[in-house]
Amino acid sequence: MGSVIVITSGKGGVGKSTVTTCLGRALCTLGKTVVLIDMDAGLRSLDLLLNMSGKTLFDLSDILEGRCSVSQAVLPLDDKTGLFLLPAPVAADAVQDVELFRRLCGKLAEIFDYVLLDSPAGIGQGFENAVVAADNALVVVTPDPVSVRDGAKVAALLRQQQIKRARLVINKIQSALILNGVLLNLDEIIDAVGLQLIAAIPNDDAVICAGAQGEPLPDCNAAKAFLNLAKRMENQIVPLLNLKKIC
Ligand SMILES: Nc1ncnc2c1ncn2[C@@H]1O[C@H](COP(=O)(O)OP(=O)(O)OP(=O)(O)O)[C@@H](O)[C@H]1O
Ligand SMILES: [Mg+2]
Repeated sequence: MGSVIVITSGKGGVGKSTVTTCLGRALCTLGKTVVLIDMDAGLRSLDLLLNMSGKTLFDLSDILEGRCSVSQAVLPLDDKTGLFLLPAPVAADAVQDVELFRRLCGKLAEIFDYVLLDSPAGIGQGFENAVVAADNALVVVTPDPVSVRDGAKVAALLRQQQIKRARLVINKIQSALILNGVLLNLDEIIDAVGLQLIAAIPNDDAVICAGAQGEPLPDCNAAKAFLNLAKRMENQIVPLLNLKKIC
């Protein structure tokens, strides 16, 4: 049985969709099968990050409302790596029946090793739908105080849910700004959010370029950090990158 993991944050723009796609790709390089579900109904982004826009015919709401089968809407990437996408609906309020969605995620977890739910920003209905269906969570924050405070709020909300394990991803780390005291350091962030750290991802222009082109990351520091995250998800013991040296 696979794991259903919500990737969430509170604050927008911290890198949830990036973490979802890069972690998904990294898990596939470890031989895992992964389906990414875009929960950002009305906005969507995973189809662009995966270079799949224009190839998707059906979406999550089509499955939930019986207009198509699961296999018609869950599409493999062309590279046949074991990565699949279930696109977000165009309409904002598409997931009406949360229990149906939860059952769909359970069904997908019988097929895939990982079901990754890319939550929309905020703590509204899209966040709640994703959290209800998930058994684990990754909370993404950046080292700025607003993002960290929002991450702490989300971590507190997750503690009230049936989530088995929530862990922290610190993204867009710029060591120079942390060292000169402009941004919070990793220990301060971990203490404020109150979750165990599972990944520290450097700010890396390669992430922006790859995302804009819908391509996998090239060999770069962020790619190493995402591969390490995937290995830790697989319970391998991997040290954190020495970020002071690289960003
Ligand atoms: N480690 C990183 N280094 C550099 N840029 C990054 C990194 N992670 C994400 N970004 C960039 O930050 C921007 C926002 O990322 P992304 O869309 O993944 O955030 P999000 O949290 O999903 O946003 P939203 O809340 O709108 O859904 C994108 O331009 C992305 O390329
Ligand atoms: Mg997003």
